[in-house]
Amino acid sequence: MRLQAYRGSILHFLGDPGEDDAASAFEYFADGLLVVADGHISKLGSAAEMLPSLDPACTIADYRGKLILPGFIDGHVHFVQTDVIGSYGRRLLEWLERYTFPAERAFANPEHARQVADYFVTELLRNGTTTALVMGSVHATSAEAVFRAAQARGMRLIAGKVMMDRNCPEDLRDTAATGYAESKALIERWHGKGRLQYAITPRFAPTSTPEQLEAAARLAAEHPDAYIHTHLAENEEEVAWVRELFPGYRSYLDVYDGYRLLRRRAMFAHSVWLDDRDRARLAESGAAVAHCPTCNLVMGSGLFDLAAATRAGVHVALGTDVGGGTSFCLLRVLDEVYKVAQLRRYTVSPLRAYYLATLGAARALDLDAHIGNFRPGREADFIVLDPAATPLLARRTAGARTLTDRLFLLTTLGDDRVVAHTYVLGRLIHTR
Ligand code: GUN
Ligand code: ZN
Repeated sequence: MRLQAYRGSILHFLGDPGEDDAASAFEYFADGLLVVADGHISKLGSAAEMLPSLDPACTIADYRGKLILPGFIDGHVHFVQTDVIGSYGRRLLEWLERYTFPAERAFANPEHARQVADYFVTELLRNGTTTALVMGSVHATSAEAVFRAAQARGMRLIAGKVMMDRNCPEDLRDTAATGYAESKALIERWHGKGRLQYAITPRFAPTSTPEQLEAAARLAAEHPDAYIHTHLAENEEEVAWVRELFPGYRSYLDVYDGYRLLRRRAMFAHSVWLDDRDRARLAESGAAVAHCPTCNLVMGSGLFDLAAATRAGVHVALGTDVGGGTSFCLLRVLDEVYKVAQLRRYTVSPLRAYYLATLGAARALDLDAHIGNFRPGREADFIVLDPAATPLLARRTAGARTLTDRLFLLTTLGDDRVVAHTYVLGRLIHTR
């Protein structure tokens, strides 16, 4: 048995800390020890209590002064938009036409797909993200490429090729039939292979014909444990467009519901423009939404109502939504989660923010039996954050008195520079 221990400050979650940081929802060890056996969590506790009885065969990596957390989980990201990030200006629909579709066209070339996929997963790990739900382009080769890149690193990853057969450039369209067949072949090849899983991925309602949504629903029914991944109600022009394209539905969400695409393991990115009936229906179905504030802000799409989603019992993950989103780093997303909440006149505590980026996302993705916290038996995906990564962080965290203060500083002042190490299945895969 391969045994390794990690000593440092350790934080993980057992539940949602809610508005008042419920003490039963998290464990924090200022001087803790995390023991990993064969890539899985074995034990966790205070160093003082555990050291005397530690197996002599177990070596200890000394990360005192640093913070050990479960790896971040990105609930919505487009690997084929890696080279679109930071494009200037425009709202969603124009941004898609001007920057995104042209960039996605290049993924018809498998060599380009391979190169970008390699860069993309390296960038995720560099930013402390150990699992992501990933949208490809319309090309099956894009999903192949990102699965291969994740497989080579032992990463847990969910991905899919986009289905889109209208309202996009001719040369980026599949059809209801080819979208179904190519997705099905990818499911058979990749879904459940090691740590990889497939997401059936109609891009969003406007780019699929009713026939294609029907085909996606059929595929979903045939593969009840596959994921469903799409966009929902991101901005007001898009919502109005869906109303025109799909008359007779009560809401944008109701279109997906009508096509039987609401269920556990369905992820709806953005979900900004919802009403209470939509939220109740999302909660009842077990589906999840991805809050993508860096994208929503830069595109002026709107302020996601996290408090309303939480009250309704909707599963919420966070998404970087690169390339609409402006950072690969969940710490940057947490910063914007806080600011969006401030503008909506409620607050998200630092503890709850880190919950959302770890166990909350794992629950939203139905992966909490495998990842998201440090319960014994979980896969050992974890990160080591350096609270003194920059001169300013070192100066400010030295004077921070509470865990909450330190966590908040890491989100307001931190980014990829804070991620000192990333471990995947107990294997060190990135060091800054
Ligand atoms: N809606 C449909 N496609 C996209 C996309 O690529 N990015 C974002 N942010 N929204 C979308
Ligand atoms: Zn997106």
